[in-house]
Amino acid sequence: MSESAAGAAAHWFAECYAAEPDGVWHAPGRVNLIGEHTDYNDGFVLPFALAQGVRAAASPRDDGVLELRSHQAPDDPAAVRLDALAPGRPGGWAAYPAGVAWALLGTGSPVGGASIAIDADLERGAALSSSAALECATALALTELYGLSVDRRELATLARRAENEFVGVPSGIMDQSASLLCERGHALLLDCRSGETSAVPLDLGAVGLVLLVIDTRIRHALSDGRYAERRRSCEDAARALGVASLRDVTDAPDGIEQVEHLGDPVLRRRARHVVTENTRVLETVGLLRVGEATRIGPLLTASHASLRDDFEISWPQADATVEAAVGSGALGARMTGGGFGGSVIALVPASRGGDVRVGIEDAYTARGWKPPRFLDALPSAGAHRLS
Ligand code: GLA
Repeated sequence: MSESAAGAAAHWFAECYAAEPDGVWHAPGRVNLIGEHTDYNDGFVLPFALAQGVRAAASPRDDGVLELRSHQAPDDPAAVRLDALAPGRPGGWAAYPAGVAWALLGTGSPVGGASIAIDADLERGAALSSSAALECATALALTELYGLSVDRRELATLARRAENEFVGVPSGIMDQSASLLCERGHALLLDCRSGETSAVPLDLGAVGLVLLVIDTRIRHALSDGRYAERRRSCEDAARALGVASLRDVTDAPDGIEQVEHLGDPVLRRRARHVVTENTRVLETVGLLRVGEATRIGPLLTASHASLRDDFEISWPQADATVEAAVGSGALGARMTGGGFGGSVIALVPASRGGDVRVGIEDAYTARGWKPPRFLDALPSAGAHRLS
C-alpha cells in the first residue's frame, strides 16, 4: 500500500480532529475466486485480498468516547460513549466500526475511547467486502492503540460478530478472514469447518493471465433479507438430509445422490449448489498448486451457472458480463460475493484483455445499461499498519 494512501488518511484525520493520528491501519477488500455461499455451510472458500481497501487513522482518547468520521460520508459523523454502545446505536455506516469496539469490549478486552478517521478506495455495494475491510481496519487500530495482542483468527471472529450481532447481517467468516489473513501473491484456502487456512499461490502474471474485476454497477445489500433467506434454505436442506451442515453431505461419498433425493425442489437446488461448489473449490486449488491456472476457467464459469440456476442469486448484468467475457476470449468468468448485485470476475489471457473489455462494454451499450467499471485485481497483503 502506497505512502500516499496513508498520507491521505492522516490528512483526513487532521481535518477532522486538528491533530496527527497515532497511526494509520489498512485492511483490504477481497475478491472471492471461488467458493460462494459455502462459508456458512462449513465449506471451503478461496478469496484473495485486493490492493484496494479501507484505512483507519486513529488516536486513543481518555474520555471513553468513540468518535467516527468517514471521508466517504463526511456529513454523517458519529460519537458515542463506549458504555452506551448497543446494536442499533450507532446505526448506518458507523455501526460497522462501532460494532467492532462493542465486540472487543464483550470479550473483556480493555479498549478505551478513540478518534478514528476512515478513508477508502473501495466502492460500497460492489461485493468486494468494503464492510469487512472497515471492520478489520478498525479492529487492528483499536487493538494496537491499546497494546492488545489478539490473534488474527480471533480478530476475524470478533469482526464477524460485529457484523452478525451489532449490524444484524448473518454473514459467514470468509470476508473478515480474507481481509486479515491473506498474503501477497496468494489466495487463501479456508476450511470454514476446521478454521484451517493455507496460502495458495496465485501468480497469474507468470502464466500470462489477468483477472479482471468488472463492477456491474448494480448495488447489493446483504441486509435486504435475501442473503438470510438463502442461508435459512441451506439449514433447512441440511435438516431434511439429517446432517448438521451441508459440509457433511459434501464429505459423504454419495453426497450428491443424497441431494438429488431431496423432495423439495428449491432445497434440492440450493444444496446442489453448495455441494458442487465445495468440489469446485478443491479442484481449483488442486490446479493452482500444480501451476495450471490456465485450466481453472471452466470451474469459474460452472460456479456462475450454479449460482444462477441452482442458488438463484445472479442478476441480468452479471449473466450478460459472464457471457460477453467468455464470448470475447475469457477462459472463465463468474459473479463474486453475496449476489443480487456487485461484481463479476473474468480470467483472461493478458493478450486478450482489451478484447474482453470491449466485448463487455458493447454488451452493456447494446442493452442501454450504464457502463461497467473495471478494476485491477492484484492478490495483495492482508491488513497491516501503514504508519
Ligand atoms: C458475503 C458474506 C460472506 C459469504 C459471501 C457469499 O460476502 O459476507 O460471508 O457468505 O457473501 O459467498
